[in-house]
Amino acid sequence: MPIGYWVDPSIDKLFQDKAHLFLIVLNYRWERGRVEAEYIAQLLKKYGIGPDDKILDLGCGNGRIAIHLALKGYRVTGLDYSKLFIEDAVKKSRQYNVYDRVEFIHGDAYRLDKIFSRERFKVVLIYWTTLIGYSLDPDKDLELLEKIYKIVEKGGYLMILNHASIENLNYRALEEGVSYYVDLGEYAFLDKASYDPARSILHVTWRFYRKRGNDLEFIDEISYDLKVYSMHEIVEMGEKAGWRLKDMYCSVKTLEPYKPGRCSLNIVFTR
Ligand SMILES: C[S@@+](CC[C@H](N)C(=O)[O-])C[C@H]1O[C@@H](n2cnc3c(N)ncnc32)[C@H](O)[C@@H]1O
Repeated sequence: MPIGYWVDPSIDKLFQDKAHLFLIVLNYRWERGRVEAEYIAQLLKKYGIGPDDKILDLGCGNGRIAIHLALKGYRVTGLDYSKLFIEDAVKKSRQYNVYDRVEFIHGDAYRLDKIFSRERFKVVLIYWTTLIGYSLDPDKDLELLEKIYKIVEKGGYLMILNHASIENLNYRALEEGVSYYVDLGEYAFLDKASYDPARSILHVTWRFYRKRGNDLEFIDEISYDLKVYSMHEIVEMGEKAGWRLKDMYCSVKTLEPYKPGRCSLNIVFTR
């Protein structure tokens, strides 16, 4: 069975076939990971989660969040289906000297009930538009939330943070077909998206460039599809999977309550 067999093939292109390009993005956002981990730690504290509680960072990428949480004293397991990202995460955990507090596992989130058949976590973190919406099939997303439920201890949490939503799509940019320039230091990409309102699928294309003086040299292009939900859809899906809604925030940074508009989805469920 291929790894990631439930995600859309275009998502496999992004994180498997062309993982080296997404790794540039992850590495560019590495320092931001430190700040984001500060905000997440503030949220963990709010729910009384301390250094002895086990945290699973699902779809952890190259450990951007997991390693920075470990540096703050937390014990984190990171799971990702990209071999390249996991190898980079292991390397970085040694560089940052936190290999005794983080563990990285190369595996498919859809198989987490098998991977963690005995282990139970206090918190499962899903950070930065990860996993939910990747299969383009709400039934599969529901099944994933059910599987996560089984590996979280009673009184534990599922935190879906910084997730794209229908409510905060940039409709104007989508209508006008505008490309956004995203700076990545030595590299850059142009981000262009279109939206299918009938199925709520965002079709995104990233054109990658290497900077050469004042010029941009085209390297490669990635296109992927993502199903975007609204807050109430993910809440309903979570509740169907057995979760209880605890809180909804507008941003992990400010922890202001959620309101439709410019907020990303930040949902805390408990069981
Ligand atoms: C947008 S990235 C976010 C990475 C990380 N959470 C962060 O904030 O840097 C999504 C991650 O999900 C991983 N992923 C996608 N499908 C997966 C699957 N079926 N099982 C495990 N990881 C998966 C990708 O490899 C990628 O690292």
